[in-house]
Amino acid sequence: MRRLLVAGNWKMHGSRDMAAALIGDIVSATDNLQAADVIVCPPFPFLGLAQKLLADSPVALGGQNISEHQQGAYTGEVSAPMLVEFGCRFVIVGHSERRTLYGENDASVARKFAAAQRSKLIPILCVGETLEERERGETEAVVLRQVQSAVDVAGVEAFADAVVAYEPVWAIGTGRTASPEQAQEVHALIRQKISEQDDTIAGDLRILYGGSVKASNAVSLFGMPDIDGGLIGGASLDGDEFLSICRARG
Ligand code: 13P
Repeated sequence: MRRLLVAGNWKMHGSRDMAAALIGDIVSATDNLQAADVIVCPPFPFLGLAQKLLADSPVALGGQNISEHQQGAYTGEVSAPMLVEFGCRFVIVGHSERRTLYGENDASVARKFAAAQRSKLIPILCVGETLEERERGETEAVVLRQVQSAVDVAGVEAFADAVVAYEPVWAIGTGRTASPEQAQEVHALIRQKISEQDDTIAGDLRILYGGSVKASNAVSLFGMPDIDGGLIGGASLDGDEFLSICRARG
């Protein structure tokens, strides 16, 4: 069975004190968290603090975004090598908030995916349809196009060291979770798409669900055969709630 992976995307929330307290809660509970690989993705300014606090912990650190460039005159950007220096092993690329608010598209997300891997970071590639796309019956086409654009740039073998997160845009921060069956259907399509190109890589690929995951719905979501964990937003800001999600396995 693929190991459960739970990643907390803090987005642009919190403070230094809150980051220290939250990481403290997570670290003190990790000895009974053998069931899952756990990642926290704080805002960039808190990465140094998080790196220190997580030094002797199995909890991994991730960034929320990276530049597609390695270095240069790109004011305000953060590169993959910089995240590596702060102890990051993972980075989120193509989150829907980046796509809708900051003009990222399949091509730029695919370049970020490749940039992450050049620095040996594991990209968490976010895909997902809007409500309008779902209502027009375009979910499958949109999600598979988003996945394939990263395959086209990085090659299917890149997915041996990558994670995919299905995050339907209509479920993010809305309290409206996809049902386990709705999510499973899309996860199976993603795995099928990769499997047509490499069956072994598809079998090992971890596909996370994100969008209003809470302790109360995590067990039923993670119980589906193709849901291998979660990308957690709001609920990752509450230590007890996040830890309950990390312990959930259907
Ligand atoms: P919520 O869990 O707050 O819906 O956010 C999901 C998300 O966007 C994680 O990346």
